[in-house]
Amino acid sequence: MKTIFSGVQPTGTVTLGNYIGAFRQFTKFQDEYDTYFCIVDQHAITVEQNPKELAQTIRSLAAIYLASGIDPEKATLFIQSEVPAHAQAGWMVQTISYIGELERMTQFKDKAGDQESIPAGLLTYPPLMAADILLYNTDLVPVGEDQKQHMELTRDLAERFNSRYGKTVVVPEVSIPEHGARIKSLQDPTKKMSKSDPNKKATISVLDTPKQIEKKIKSAVTDSEGVVRYDVEEKPGVSNLLTIESVLSNVSIADLEKKYEGKGYGDFKAGVAEAVIQHLEPFQARYYELMESEEELDRILDEGRDKANAVASKTLARMEKAMGLGRHRN
Ligand code: AQP
Repeated sequence: MKTIFSGVQPTGTVTLGNYIGAFRQFTKFQDEYDTYFCIVDQHAITVEQNPKELAQTIRSLAAIYLASGIDPEKATLFIQSEVPAHAQAGWMVQTISYIGELERMTQFKDKAGDQESIPAGLLTYPPLMAADILLYNTDLVPVGEDQKQHMELTRDLAERFNSRYGKTVVVPEVSIPEHGARIKSLQDPTKKMSKSDPNKKATISVLDTPKQIEKKIKSAVTDSEGVVRYDVEEKPGVSNLLTIESVLSNVSIADLEKKYEGKGYGDFKAGVAEAVIQHLEPFQARYYELMESEEELDRILDEGRDKANAVASKTLARMEKAMGLGRHRN
């Protein structure tokens, strides 16, 4: 059985972008692959977090994974910081990474912005991400389009490790969904929708109430043409909303264009909101149920940690031996 690994940061409430780009893919894979889904809290702290809120967000993210359909009988769900091999392998991968290539990452440039004191962890985020993936002998990584550059670097680092120290790690492939790989901000449809966007009108959280969803979609930026047609260049706002409705309701964009022929943006937005609300209703019900049952969540995360630890520590030992660390006899 081939292996899949993917991680999501507990950096705020999961957006419709994360859900469409990442979570929606996860459940499809769990029947056919050995799957590892990680709450990457060590990545989250590359940006300053409030400790109390972080602890809460970690639990909430675990419930979101499960509510989106992850089955703990099939998949391994765990928290990154509870498996020490991640930080250990992350350091090893850092030693073969070059500052130049890390500085070229667009996520680093975006997040560092013009801050005077840039946390070192923002720069060394990709080697830790590479370590996360390599520890599980991962064949395939399902992510949204924004992670494509990090994935190319992960592949380079895996190949570099193998060429320096002999074939030790699996070089992973990336899986980016055909539709919805980059859901855009509702307020600036040229930017991706992000959980840490301070403008709450720009994002739909998967936990938003129907009223909030309606309101946010109603105030989404569109254009003055008044025609519902898909054209990313000329009509990024309308195209983004069409993508959202299409992937969540499983109706092609062409059919949606027909559905809204002759109708104004008011009707269009109401239709998109309806599709989002309908899709999220059962998901939210399951989420709140899980958040009530603390013990069940803890049991799932304990089992996940133990399963992840068993695999990761073996790969770590192999990587250490290949690098000559510790007292491994040749
Ligand atoms: N707008 C998006 N459209 C489609 N997929 C997306 N992803 C993120 N944004 C979109 C995918 O969601 C997964 C989890 O992302 P992450 O938590 O690792 O961090 P991120 O990519 O940096 O996502 P955010 O929402 O923008 O978080 P913050 O604001 O904390 O940086 C990944 O598979 C990602 O591709």
